[in-house]
Amino acid sequence: MERIPVAGPWITEREVRYAADAATHGWYARAGEYPARFERAFAQYVGRRHAVALPSCTSAIHLALSALRVGPGDEVIVPDCTWIATAAPIQYVGATPVFADVEPETWCLSDRTVAACLSARTRAIIAVDLYGGMPDYPALLALAADRGVPVLEDAAEAVGSECGGQRAGSFGAASLFSFHGSKTLTTGEGGMLVTDDPALHARVLTLRDHGRPPGDKLFVNTEVAYKYKMSAVQAALGLAQLERIEELVARKREIFGWYSTELGALPGITLNAEPPQTRNSYWMVTAVFAPDTGLTCREVMAALDAQGIDSRPFFHPLSSLPAYASEPQAALARARNKAAYDLSPRAINLPSALCLRREQVGRVCGVLKSLLACAG
Ligand SMILES: Cc1ncc(COP(=O)(O)O)c(C=O)c1O
Repeated sequence: MERIPVAGPWITEREVRYAADAATHGWYARAGEYPARFERAFAQYVGRRHAVALPSCTSAIHLALSALRVGPGDEVIVPDCTWIATAAPIQYVGATPVFADVEPETWCLSDRTVAACLSARTRAIIAVDLYGGMPDYPALLALAADRGVPVLEDAAEAVGSECGGQRAGSFGAASLFSFHGSKTLTTGEGGMLVTDDPALHARVLTLRDHGRPPGDKLFVNTEVAYKYKMSAVQAALGLAQLERIEELVARKREIFGWYSTELGALPGITLNAEPPQTRNSYWMVTAVFAPDTGLTCREVMAALDAQGIDSRPFFHPLSSLPAYASEPQAALARARNKAAYDLSPRAINLPSALCLRREQVGRVCGVLKSLLACAG
C-alpha cells in the first residue's frame, strides 16, 4: 500500500530549469541576481515595498525583532498555538514571550485574547496566520495602534491567504514567510521578510550580513550581527514557484474542497474556518473532533498510521511544552488559555501535500468516517 505523506511540494520542469540555471551561472558577480528577482516579485505579489530573502522564517522573525530593538525586559505576545519558531526568537533577543489564547473558530489571536495579555512591558505582538487561516487583522491592528505596539505577521503558513481583500504578508510592521519543504511555496529551506518601512528594511539588510551596511564593498563591519542570506539556487527555485503561485494555491483549495465534500456535513468533525472577508489558502487541512466523540489526536493519528497515512498533531500549546516548563509566563498561560488547551488535544493535521490525489483523500476520509461511526 502506497504511504500517504502529510506534506510535500509540487515541482515542475520550470523549477528544475531555474535551479539548474542558478547552479550553472549564479556565482560571484551574478550570485545576487536570482535573490533580487525573487525579492522584487515577492514584494509585488504580497503588496509590500520591500522584501528580503533569508534562510528561514525563524531568521526572519529574529531579524524583525532585532530591527524593532526588542530586548531584555520587553514582552512579546504570541499565540499559544503555533510552531515554536514563532516564539523562540523572542528569547534569542533576550525578551520574554507571553502566550495569548486563540479564538476557537479561527485558531488565531484576536483583539480580545491579546488585550488580556497586554502590559506596560509589551513591545511587540506576533500574530500567526495559522494553517493558512487569518486573524481579524482590522480589530487586532486597531488595538495595537491604540497601545502603540508594533505587530509582526507570522505568515509562514499563509502565502496566498487574504483578509479584507489584502494578501497575507501585508499586515503590520513586517511580515515573515517560510519556504520550508512542507510549505505551499518552497525553496527547500528559506524565508522572506517583507515590509513597507524603509528604515526597518535598511536595518534588516545590515543585520543579516554581519553588520555590513547595504552597498559595502570594502568589507567594513559596523557591528557584530548575523549571517542570514538565501543562495541563488534557492531563490531560483522560489522564483519559479512564485510564478506558479495561483496554481499552487488553487491546488491547496481543491484538496480542502475534496475533504470538505467528504467530511464537511458529518457531525462531530470541524475543518478549517474561512470567515467572511477572508480567503484561506489551507496550508494544512485540519480536523477538530467534537468533545462528545471522545476522539483524541493521538488515537486518530495511530489509526491513520496503521492504514499507511501520515498526519501531524495540531500544535501543542507552547506553554505546555517542556521547553517552557520553567517560564513563569507559561504557568500563567496554562491557567488562562482555555481555547488553546481545549482545542489542541482533539485536533489533527491531515495529509495536505500538493501531490495528493483525490482517491488518497478518499482513503483518509474512509478511516475518519469509520472512527466517527464507532465514536461517542
Ligand atoms: C507558524 C510558523 N512560524 C514560523 C515557522 C518557521 O519557519 P522556518 O522553518 O522556515 O524557520 C514555521 C515553520 O513551519 C511556522 O509554521
